[in-house]
Amino acid sequence: MSGEVLGTITLRVQRYRPDADEAPHLVDYEVPWGRDTSVLDALTWVKDHLDPTLAFRWSCRMAICGSCGFVLNGTPRLGCEHFVRDYAPGPLVVEPLANRAVERDLVVDLEPFLASLERARPWLVPDPEDPPGEAGNRQTPEQMLAYHDYAMCIDCLLCYAACPQVALAPDFLGPAAITAAVRYDKDSRDHGSDDRLPALDREDGLWACTFVGACSTACPKGVDPAAAIQQAKAATAAAWAAEFLLPRRGGRP
Ligand code: SF4
Ligand code: FES
Repeated sequence: MSGEVLGTITLRVQRYRPDADEAPHLVDYEVPWGRDTSVLDALTWVKDHLDPTLAFRWSCRMAICGSCGFVLNGTPRLGCEHFVRDYAPGPLVVEPLANRAVERDLVVDLEPFLASLERARPWLVPDPEDPPGEAGNRQTPEQMLAYHDYAMCIDCLLCYAACPQVALAPDFLGPAAITAAVRYDKDSRDHGSDDRLPALDREDGLWACTFVGACSTACPKGVDPAAAIQQAKAATAAAWAAEFLLPRRGGRP
């Protein structure tokens, strides 16, 4: 820890080793803090000075990699983005992200999310009959703005921890995976919307969302997954209406 120590705080951390512990339990650690001590710094201090077995993920320490999501006093947050001073005098309860299986202590299983991402097919699909040359990949600023905010996602899973529908229906594709699909649907270079539709237009896809909006409140990057999901619902419903309700071209009036 660098800088002047301003106090100590009780970090109340959930510990759990599924192979050895009957149940998760909270353990208290007294941690010194200063003006710039992040919650991630405090956890690192515990690991360096009190218990090297404490497990948690981190990498960038600057709210970019999305690794350090925890539940802090009941709210999903990035540990590197929030400061201990804002939780003083404590205690500060640090738990793993909700709605994910715990692998150890504060480390959760990411596999179901990665499977959801794969189902959503969040990648650029070029027009097979007109593959883009170098000039064909160019976009206007307006075309880029159509998906820009949705491209800010860092896969931190705070939205999954906040979402009551993920808690009720673990197979729900979920906010970030749907937003990733919408990000490419809105990209002027993309022709993959039809490929993504089977994963989105399902009970456990778009239609599982009840628009609580907790995902957007929790998001640290301003992505607004709730808006992405509602836009995808509207686009899917419009496509359905065009397909089944409007007179078909060349068909009966
Ligand atoms: S949508 Fe926001 S909260 Fe959800 S994974 Fe992306 S950055 Fe994190
Ligand atoms: S360590 Fe990368 S987002 Fe916190």
